[in-house]
Amino acid sequence: MAYAAAAVLLLLLLFSLSTAQPGFISLDCGGADDYTDGIGIQWTSDAKLVFGGQTANLLVQNQPQKQYSTLRYFPADTRKYCYTMNVRTRTRYLVRASFLYGNFDNSNVYPKFDLSLGATHWSTVIIDDADTPVVEEATILASAPTLSVCVSNASTGQPFISTLELRQFNGSLYYTDYEAQFFLALSARINFGAQGNESVRYPDDPFDRIWESDSSRRANYLVDVAPGTQRISTTNPVFVSINEEPPEKVMQTAVVGQNGSLNYRLDLEGFPGNAWAVSYFAEIEALASNETRKFKLVVPGMPAFSKPTVDVEENAQGKYRLYQPGYTNVSLPFVFSFEFKKTNDSSKGPILNAMEIYKYVQITMGSQDANIMASLVSRYPQAGWAQEGGDPCLPASWTWVQCSSEPAPRVSSITLSGKNITGSIPLELTKLSALVDLKLDGNSFSGEIPDFSGCRNLQYIHLENNQITGALPSSMGDLPNLKELYVQNNRLSGQIPRALSKKGITFSWSGNNGLHTANDSISHTTIIIIVCAVVGAILLLAVAIACCFCTLKRKRKPSHETVVVAAPAKKLGSYFSEVATESAHRFALSEIEDATGKFEKRIGSGGFGIVYYGKLADGREIAVKLLTNDSYQGIREFLNEVALLSRIHHRNLVTFLGYSQQDGKNILVYEYMHNGTLKEHLRGGPNDVKITSWVKRLEIAEDAAKGIEYLHTGCSPTIIHRDVKSSNILLDKNMRAKVADFGLSKPAVDGSHVSSIVRGTVGYLDPEYYISQQLTEKSDIYSFGVILLELISGHEPISSDNFGLNCRNIVAWARSHLESGNIDAIIDASLDTGYDLQSVWKIAEAGIMCVEPKGAQRPTISEVLKEIQDAIAIEKQRQAPQAQQLMSKRSMGSASVNTDNSMDLEQNATFDDQLMRPALR
Ligand SMILES: *[C@@H]1O[C@H](CO)[C@@H](O)[C@H](O)[C@H]1NC(C)=O
Ligand SMILES: *[C@@H]1O[C@H](CO)[C@@H](O)[C@H](O)[C@H]1NC(C)=O
Ligand SMILES: *[C@@H]1O[C@H](CO)[C@@H](O)[C@H](O)[C@H]1NC(C)=O
Ligand SMILES: *[C@@H]1O[C@H](CO)[C@@H](O)[C@H](O)[C@H]1NC(C)=O
Ligand SMILES: *[C@@H]1O[C@H](CO)[C@@H](O)[C@H](O)[C@H]1NC(C)=O
Ligand SMILES: *[C@@H]1O[C@H](CO)[C@@H](O)[C@H](O)[C@H]1NC(C)=O
Ligand SMILES: *[C@@H]1O[C@H](CO)[C@@H](O)[C@H](O)[C@H]1NC(C)=O
Repeated sequence: MAYAAAAVLLLLLLFSLSTAQPGFISLDCGGADDYTDGIGIQWTSDAKLVFGGQTANLLVQNQPQKQYSTLRYFPADTRKYCYTMNVRTRTRYLVRASFLYGNFDNSNVYPKFDLSLGATHWSTVIIDDADTPVVEEATILASAPTLSVCVSNASTGQPFISTLELRQFNGSLYYTDYEAQFFLALSARINFGAQGNESVRYPDDPFDRIWESDSSRRANYLVDVAPGTQRISTTNPVFVSINEEPPEKVMQTAVVGQNGSLNYRLDLEGFPGNAWAVSYFAEIEALASNETRKFKLVVPGMPAFSKPTVDVEENAQGKYRLYQPGYTNVSLPFVFSFEFKKTNDSSKGPILNAMEIYKYVQITMGSQDANIMASLVSRYPQAGWAQEGGDPCLPASWTWVQCSSEPAPRVSSITLSGKNITGSIPLELTKLSALVDLKLDGNSFSGEIPDFSGCRNLQYIHLENNQITGALPSSMGDLPNLKELYVQNNRLSGQIPRALSKKGITFSWSGNNGLHTANDSISHTTIIIIVCAVVGAILLLAVAIACCFCTLKRKRKPSHETVVVAAPAKKLGSYFSEVATESAHRFALSEIEDATGKFEKRIGSGGFGIVYYGKLADGREIAVKLLTNDSYQGIREFLNEVALLSRIHHRNLVTFLGYSQQDGKNILVYEYMHNGTLKEHLRGGPNDVKITSWVKRLEIAEDAAKGIEYLHTGCSPTIIHRDVKSSNILLDKNMRAKVADFGLSKPAVDGSHVSSIVRGTVGYLDPEYYISQQLTEKSDIYSFGVILLELISGHEPISSDNFGLNCRNIVAWARSHLESGNIDAIIDASLDTGYDLQSVWKIAEAGIMCVEPKGAQRPTISEVLKEIQDAIAIEKQRQAPQAQQLMSKRSMGSASVNTDNSMDLEQNATFDDQLMRPALR
């Protein structure tokens, strides 16, 4: 019963952002209809968007605002209940959830439960007053196309929610250096000197932040106010930029300390912790020309705060202008007492218009299998169980999932028994490499059993009572930990793999008419031996032929780039085409012909085909790779790419849009990359702009490393690219780099990466791999090291001209110069001057580490990425020498946000007004 109820109580909210208020989502939870409130915010009911849930009306004396008069509540069980909202990745959002209890359950038990943002614990919601809403607000950089907000883990009462709001920011006020790892949770946003108790929000604040009035006092919030504190206001305009600075209405009021100081004490919820804290000042009083207003911040026990002096008018370059100094990362206590105190030479006391304090909250990584699981549930948009939302494991796992207890948990158990699921068994399941227990019984699954050999930990497999066809894959018997295999009452056929009759495996297979045990006269092993012998002979022959072919080719064309030593692999075709049709978009050939004008504009050639430019009917520009179809390698490559590419998505990998297989033509469709290859931009052909900025080259290296990092660490099983080279790094419109050409990629098989196919490009090919044929990620690292050396020198990896007499390749050449400490000898003469030699050294050292002869001595791609990012930091620091902890004034008019007048705690001795003045003029 409870289980069924839980299954119905699922929430899914996927909708586009409202067009009338771009970037706003305003959900009235439990509300029955959509409406616009008194200040013009368009509220949407969540009723149509949820699969269930319970709504309730509040039982309060004073009628609250309409969005607060209803709420949605959930059972106090062990699961989580999530709202999932579509967002734009790499965009900052304000997320606000509010909770007004209002005794909705007529029990007067004040609920306490957890609130999470994605997999991250955001806050514990504690209701201590039935009539006052608890509001939680966060600023977060969206890193995925959806953002989920979940409630869970009630320790008293039932979890509930009154409103959920999302506001898209469009400036950079809330940028922090840590935003990939931390979001900001709001602790205080105060409008000082406010007129009345009302908050200032939309439409005064176009981003609808709520600026709380300093006169509507909460317990232990803004207490210990100094005598002589006076509220002032103006009707004169105050100059604030259109960006995320406080709205004018907030800046038009302030408090001033007539007796020389402003004092406050705040309780900062969630602290002690690291904070982002900013004060907003504007001179809004008419001061006589002989009067001055200078003051310092005084915080007990923190003398460093008192070093800078604020002179608002001077700092803001005039009256009625904003000055916003602050600390982007400062440690604050729970009870925060602060004072602004006038300096001895100032005639007026301090002023304060507004203030914001946020706490840094570390983002929890979430499950390692989150992407696989997201892809899995996206196949079942109608099914309740697939809509639970949020991370599959954290903070609580989905009802049909169990996870390991690592910090980044893996999915260990899946129970989808009797869920009325049709179609074939989703391949995502085979990618859950930590899976122990899989129950899919009692559905209507059809098709064949996929290959679970990647799930080495599988112990329990229940597939009974479905409509599964085909044979039992022999790999099932090879699962080392298998304890139970139930396949009864399906339509399986063929011979049962021997290994399944091993002791210790409970194997149940009745009710499959075509299934039979191995009782033929020729023993199984004999067949295997014969088959192996035949296949072996064919392989040998093929390798021999391929080698001759290759040698011949090389002789004829000494500069030919690609080494191909390959055995034809016919059998793979059917497996891969099945994969392909399941997950990739299939284009009609006519569609492709229309888009490319019947393959008119050739833009390149790569692994087994020619690439053409095209434009789809919807205006999207595409790159179309038409494979030469007379080789087995070509076909295999094609299907390999389709299967792989359709499940790999990363912003630094060229996006795969689909494929076409018709009339004997095999076609792959990718996003079109406007700026061609990195190779072109390093060498600089007649039509190519050579990249001469060192920082730009570093950024390209960073992008490419991120793409490879994803292949190595973000995919399961790991993917080795096998043909990393500068012509496989493509640049988009904005000169952001993406890694291309997965034709040569292949999932790394656990343990033994032995492969009969050596591929790669001369100059980039890992010599260890070439000799041993043991493929590891470290082969890509070698190739990437060559690219780093290319970025420094601008030279091709193999050249008879550039590297002197005894040396034909870049690795030996660079190594000999670097060993003698002569880095200048390898730096590209066409680089713009002004780079920092230290950052070039960093990259050179990383490059040399990458091309170490032994794979084990090479770094991982993540380590290389870190070096690149450090080098970028060195360059950026050099460009903005004073960029540091304290934020700059960001007054309108000075477009460059350079941190000229910023106050720095570390550069303590020299800081004072003297330092500020020259920069301000
Ligand atoms: C649930 O809440 C309790 C009490 O607030 C807390 O101790 C516990 O750690 C929470 N559990 C999870 C999984 O967050
Ligand atoms: C503002 O709130 C305070 C405390 O809640 C109250 O005493 C005061 O009368 C309110 N002022 C106005 C103008 O409503
Ligand atoms: C976002 O920025 C653009 C210009 O950069 C501005 O015109 C627009 O009004 C901004 N949006 C909001 C909500 O402020
Ligand atoms: C603050 O200043 C006022 C006059 O502006 C004076 O009457 C009062 O005594 C002063 N209070 C303190 C505590 O200094
Ligand atoms: C400024 O000048 C006015 C008269 O012009 C005088 O009354 C006042 O005391 C002066 N203030 C200061 C701080 O010198
Ligand atoms: C802030 O500074 C502290 C101490 O210097 C550091 O440990 C921390 O990582 C920084 N960043 C954040 C987001 O807390
Ligand atoms: C099972 O799914 C089919 C459609 O796929 C649907 O018509 C049927 O009502 C479902 N049965 C149950 C018990 O949900």
